[in-house]
Amino acid sequence: MKVRYRVNISRFSYPDGTLAIKELEFEIISGECMGILGANGSGKTTLLKIMDGILKGYRGYVELDGEEIRDLTPRQIYSKVGLVFQDPDDQLFASTVYEDVAFGPLNMGFSEWETRERVKRALKDVEMEGFEERRIETLSYGQKKRVCIAGLLAMGQEVLLMDEPLAGLDPLGELRMLRFLRSLNREKGVTMVIASHNVDIAPLLFDRVLVLNKGSMGLLGRPQEVFQDLFGVEGLRLRLPYIGELFWKLKNLHNIPFPSVALTVEQGRHLIVEALRSTKDI
Ligand SMILES: Nc1ncnc2c1ncn2[C@@H]1O[C@H](COP(=O)(O)OP(=O)(O)OP(=O)(O)O)[C@@H](O)[C@H]1O
Ligand SMILES: [Mg+2]
Repeated sequence: MKVRYRVNISRFSYPDGTLAIKELEFEIISGECMGILGANGSGKTTLLKIMDGILKGYRGYVELDGEEIRDLTPRQIYSKVGLVFQDPDDQLFASTVYEDVAFGPLNMGFSEWETRERVKRALKDVEMEGFEERRIETLSYGQKKRVCIAGLLAMGQEVLLMDEPLAGLDPLGELRMLRFLRSLNREKGVTMVIASHNVDIAPLLFDRVLVLNKGSMGLLGRPQEVFQDLFGVEGLRLRLPYIGELFWKLKNLHNIPFPSVALTVEQGRHLIVEALRSTKDI
C-alpha cells in the first residue's frame, strides 16, 4: 500500500501565538477516504492548509509522496493535490462561473478546447450545468460551494483535500454530493481527506476517521471503532450518528442484544430484520 501523506507535527502555532496543532501523527494511504472530525476550533482547517502547503511554520514533518511539502513548489503540489476551502468566498475570485472553474486547468497547461470540456464535465458533476456565464456574486452559498468543488474536479488531481464540502447543500444535494464523492473515491481511486462536522454521513463516506481534540489526536480508526461509545464521543465534543445513538441506547439502556451498534440506516435495517427473524417467524 502506497503512503501518500506522512504527517508528524509536534507543534504548529499561528503568528499571534495561538497553538493550533500539537503532537499529531498519521499517514494517508493511496486511495483511502479519510474524515477529519472535531469541534469548532479543533484544528481541521489548519491541518488541511498544512497538507496543501499553505501553512509552513510547523515543527515536525509533512511528506507528500515521500517529499517534505515545504520543499515543493506550488506547481508541484497542485499538480497532485487540490483543496476546497471551507468558505467559498475565500476560494472564488473570477467574475463568472466559467472563468473560475477554467482557471485551474488553463494554469495546468490544458488547451482551450480541453479546458472547455473539463469545465463542462465538472459543472455537470456538481449539478451546475447552465451556470457558466453567471456572475459569482449572484450565486447562493450552496451554489458557490458546488462551483468550488467543480474548480477542483476540472483539474483532475489525484488527492483532494476538502474542508466541509457538504456544508450548505440542500438535503438531496448533500446526498447526491456524498454519492458522487464516494464514486470518485471508490471508482476513480481519488485519495480524499475531508473535514466535516456531519457525523451522520461519516460512516457512509469515510474508510477511517481522525478526530481532532484541541489540535491533537483524539481518536483514529474505522467509523465502527470511533463511534463505539456514546460518552467517549461526547467527551470529544462530538455525538454519535443518530442511528448509532438509537442502537447504543437499545443495547445499553434496554439490554437488547444486537451484535453491534449500527451507524447507518442500511446497517440498522439489517440488524432489526435479523433480530426479528430470529425471534419470530416473519
Ligand atoms: N489566522 C489565524 N490566526 C490565529 N489563530 C487562528 C487563525 N486561524 C485559526 N486560528 C485558531 O486556530 C485554532 C484552530 O482553528 P481551525 O480553523 O483550524 O479550526 P477548525 O477545526 O477548522 O474549526 P471549525 O469547525 O470552526 O471550522 C482555533 O483556536 C482558531 O481560533
Ligand atoms: Mg474549519
